[in-house]
Amino acid sequence: MTVAQPLGDWRRTDGCGVLRPADTGREVTVCGWVHARRDHGGVLFLDLRDRTGLVQVVCNPAESPEAHARAGDVRLEFVVAVRGTVRPRPGETVNPDLPSGAIEVGASALHVLNGARPTPFPIDDAAEVTESMRLRYRYLDLRRPAVQRNLVLRHEVARTVREHLTRLGFIEVETPVLARSTPEGARDYLVPSRVQRGAFYALPQSPQLFKQILMVAGLDRYYQIVRCFRDEDLRADRQPEFTQIDLEMSFVGRDDVMGVVEPMIADLFTTVRGRVTPRPFPVLSHREAMQRFGSDRPDLRVDLELVDFSTCFAGTEFRVFADALAAGHAIRGLAVRGGGAALSRRELDDLVGFATAEGARGLTWIRIGADGWQSPATKFLSDGERTRLTEAGKLEPGHLLLLLAEPEPVASAVLSRIRLQLGERLGRVAKGEDRFLWVVDFPLLERDPDANRYVAVHHPFTAPLEEDLDRLESHPLEIRSQAYDLVLNGTELGGGSIRIHQPEVQQRVFALLGMSETDAHARFGFLLEALSFGAPPHGGIAIGFDRLVMLLAGADSIRDVIAFPKTQRAACLMTEAPSPVDPAQLRELGLRVVS
Ligand code: AMO
Repeated sequence: MTVAQPLGDWRRTDGCGVLRPADTGREVTVCGWVHARRDHGGVLFLDLRDRTGLVQVVCNPAESPEAHARAGDVRLEFVVAVRGTVRPRPGETVNPDLPSGAIEVGASALHVLNGARPTPFPIDDAAEVTESMRLRYRYLDLRRPAVQRNLVLRHEVARTVREHLTRLGFIEVETPVLARSTPEGARDYLVPSRVQRGAFYALPQSPQLFKQILMVAGLDRYYQIVRCFRDEDLRADRQPEFTQIDLEMSFVGRDDVMGVVEPMIADLFTTVRGRVTPRPFPVLSHREAMQRFGSDRPDLRVDLELVDFSTCFAGTEFRVFADALAAGHAIRGLAVRGGGAALSRRELDDLVGFATAEGARGLTWIRIGADGWQSPATKFLSDGERTRLTEAGKLEPGHLLLLLAEPEPVASAVLSRIRLQLGERLGRVAKGEDRFLWVVDFPLLERDPDANRYVAVHHPFTAPLEEDLDRLESHPLEIRSQAYDLVLNGTELGGGSIRIHQPEVQQRVFALLGMSETDAHARFGFLLEALSFGAPPHGGIAIGFDRLVMLLAGADSIRDVIAFPKTQRAACLMTEAPSPVDPAQLRELGLRVVS
């Protein structure tokens, strides 16, 4: 084992990846990790890597026997310092794929700063490594250039956001991490208080209430790049702790908030992706998004839209559809150009299987052929129905017609996923594009069938549309909110709203959510009180920062853009958090673990 040496006067003069032919003749010192090592007939070649990239170091015994001898001892991932002269590579050895590939450093001295055990996987972007290995040895995984690029991008995005918002008069204010529960719809992470036994802080699911209170305090324009914590089931675009670009503004309407966010996001995409992001982003009402795409975060890159075929079946003899219409459900579906020819019988059966697995009772498919319609359901369709379907779906030979008669929300959920699957299967996704949209006019409330009560679609502080306010108690499910979501390619990038700023209205919404006045005061007394001391009209939004960077980086998972992410089971494989704690710590907190 090589003994580690102190840095001494081996201070580096340059990054490995920044040397160029213009540096030819310069005496340099470079430091880094041994990325590759080749022995070419007595001459040793090392690729030395640091954050700036790679450079080739040549240890020739004829030039420096000492450097050559030392290089003989080094292994991959050893940390070394090399002193030498920059010179052009001989013509045939120029590597055009490497930014420093036209030069090399002829070593006059080499100093081993530290040894390294053989790594459990190669430090190489191309290496196939399981995610659990990558996360267990994250410090090795983070040495890989592709992962480092994501972190550099993350830094650049944060910097750009700070500059944009600062220019617009926003100030960054930090809000507490040890806080009270805010209802964003997920479970809280709780932190027990030692000094007040039996009492708990909740880690913030977002700084929602603090930012509203900053508006009451007259701060006018607040932002924060802030960590949020939610104990919810994880997916590729969800982490238990994640970061938001959170902002709030006073004396504004919906368009003002959108007007701050939209150019910032569009500029970022234009800069990073290198293609112009068209503005303004389209704005769709929640109702229209659900009708046309079956989703409140539609992927507009998919060139397929849902159609409501209900009127085609007025008076139908087809029992399934007649029953559905009688029960007030729509008959909706997709008319897919080319789908009839492209999908095999087996693939159609799979679609039906998918629909039933998702809770639908069935899915009717019809292939429109040049010589007639082919479907298990053709015998139920009258001539009139065929004519009306042809017209409504603009059906032509080669089309595939899919029909679903189900109550909501199953119908939209199934159809939207079939839309995405077919888009993918038939190559109807504009993969190279970024398709943004705003979804607005969400319903204020929805019914939670399990709890049998109303719940807020966004959060309880979202303002109802002014014009719907007088029907709040009489028609709660029809009330639209002043909420808006920013959606990109099927991912919800951000969400926000204009808030309730009058304590009476807030109290009415709490009441609809089943909170008595006493409950409301116990949980949110501080907010109601603050609103009663002259709260300005205000609103804001939070953008998922990890999701934003993931989409900018073209990554598949937010774990790829977070330095130390957690697994599906919310664990850190490197530090092994969460972990049991010392019984003495629990005793001090007055807690006992029951198995
Ligand atoms: P919301 O709950 O919609 O709104 O969150 C805003 C955005 O945060 C991102 N996000 C997540 N990212 C990664 N992992 C998670 N677990 C996760 N959960 C949410 C999403 C989402 O669009 N206080 C309100 C905002 C407001 O009203 O101003 C809020 O938090 O991209």
